[in-house]
Amino acid sequence: MAGKGHWWRNAVVYQIYLRSFQDSNGDGIGDLKGVIERLPYLQELGIDVIWLSPMFQSPMDDNGYDISDYYRVDSVFGQDEDMDRLIKEAKEYGIRIILDLVINHCSDEHEWFRRAVRDEGCEEAGYFYFKRTEDGKEPNNWRSNFGGSVWSQLPDGRWYYHTFSPKQPDLNWENPRLRREVYKIINWWLGKGIAGFRVDAITFIKKDLSFASVETLDGERYPVENFENYPGIDDFLAELKRETFDKHDCFTVAEAPGVGNEDFKKYTGEDGFFSMIFDFSWESMEGEADKSSVDAIERLKKRILDNQQFMSRNGWCGIFLENHDQARCLNRYLEKADRGYHSASALATLYFFLYGTPYIYEGQEIGMVNAVWNSVDELADTRAKITWKERLEQGEDEKGLLEYFNHWGRDNARTPMQWNDGKNAGFTDGKPWLKVQDGYREVNVERQREDPGSLLSYYKKLIALRRDEALADIMGNGGFYPMPEAGQGIIAYRRASDGKEILVIVNLLNRENALNQENLAEAHPDGKTIDELFSEGILLNNYMGIEINSKKLVLRPYQALVIMEH
Ligand code: GLC
Ligand code: CA
Repeated sequence: MAGKGHWWRNAVVYQIYLRSFQDSNGDGIGDLKGVIERLPYLQELGIDVIWLSPMFQSPMDDNGYDISDYYRVDSVFGQDEDMDRLIKEAKEYGIRIILDLVINHCSDEHEWFRRAVRDEGCEEAGYFYFKRTEDGKEPNNWRSNFGGSVWSQLPDGRWYYHTFSPKQPDLNWENPRLRREVYKIINWWLGKGIAGFRVDAITFIKKDLSFASVETLDGERYPVENFENYPGIDDFLAELKRETFDKHDCFTVAEAPGVGNEDFKKYTGEDGFFSMIFDFSWESMEGEADKSSVDAIERLKKRILDNQQFMSRNGWCGIFLENHDQARCLNRYLEKADRGYHSASALATLYFFLYGTPYIYEGQEIGMVNAVWNSVDELADTRAKITWKERLEQGEDEKGLLEYFNHWGRDNARTPMQWNDGKNAGFTDGKPWLKVQDGYREVNVERQREDPGSLLSYYKKLIALRRDEALADIMGNGGFYPMPEAGQGIIAYRRASDGKEILVIVNLLNRENALNQENLAEAHPDGKTIDELFSEGILLNNYMGIEINSKKLVLRPYQALVIMEH
């Protein structure tokens, strides 16, 4: 159910990429005990919910997104009891846990797949997509999400289907027994007292069963129209919800690529399949020549404001600047010279009060940035490895590829959390599984914790404000009102409910920028003067004070304001 008044509308979620968060035993890999040790930090930060990346038993081809036993914790992350302890102790800190539900595929080392490989006629062979071809070639020309064909071949000649890496065979949702097994897993975990799930890659579970090759396939692109949000998926999602989530007071956020506006309501509306889906519509400034230019900001503004207007009328969404699949937001949205406290806090303010539930990715709150990757050997991501090999074969040179991964590689977000300026940034006593980003001596939790002017301190204020009782109705139920005319390079909007409203104004340019009376009046039907407006209460400001000059509000470079109106 996705109705009004649900607790998760007023929650702030923190994403933990377990492998990189905190190592407790010196093996260089983050683990559950490490998360338990850091619960006080998360409580101090003020978040409500942890989204924990997969901790299930896994060969770790895709860092846990390839599951070989859904009922067990991987020994690298701890014991099964550690998970029970984490759920229980987090609760004592007032923090709920959601797990990453990876049910489009499992691991090729899952018992189901092993049996299916051994015995073509067994029950579990029906849990996957197998095909034989007469010419010995792939059954079709579809490309996987990670590059290469969606088909890989078994020694006995059968082909099996995978949307992602060859070690992630897709589960056959057409098979009712398989679906029942999946529901059993979900209900088992819900019975343990978790709050819900982040649902991985869910729009891939329905395929065009003709498996016909696609006519015009360019090398880069996978044929989304054949296996992403494909017609018929509704039946699966409705059943999934009915058999699992509905039986509990369960919160779900889906990674649902391919869901356009026409389907948004079905996915998240009053009786939507999920509590919310992520809004990926403005995830980066990718391809912008100069991210700091007025043009680039204006394009970003349009994307954000348009999309928010649509979503606020049709459902609910998860909003974020970062996750484990993308480069760091300071790299994606800002030119190097513009990165700093003001720009980072401006971006944070910009998204935090939008219509939806805000997500913070570990390290974002201290302003972690991309690492510098000097060779392919430093990269760990399975997608990077597959793509690297494929593109080399296609004739690309190593230098260009390295540059690509320095910009867009998923490893950028996965470097260890920077806790202090000591050995390995306080992440591990051993050798970290992925190198620590060079800037950790300046950018770390310990340093920012005591500093009221730090990004971390700003995030704490931001989170506290987003969760403030006084704003609960506006944030949870209020509409979204864009102010497209606020000024070039300025992104501004109002959120309002029952006569109460807040105004968010962010200057996304690295220079002074004026929001004038005229512009404000145009966007603001009450016709208030700037003086009136600001006498009413600035709730948040990433500078000291504001400047009004000949009837104009002068915004400093990257100044961000949240103002309460009555
Ligand atoms: C999702 C995850 C990503 C993973 C993929 C396959 O996109 O966010 O990390 O590689 O699904 O499970
Ligand atoms: Ca460890």
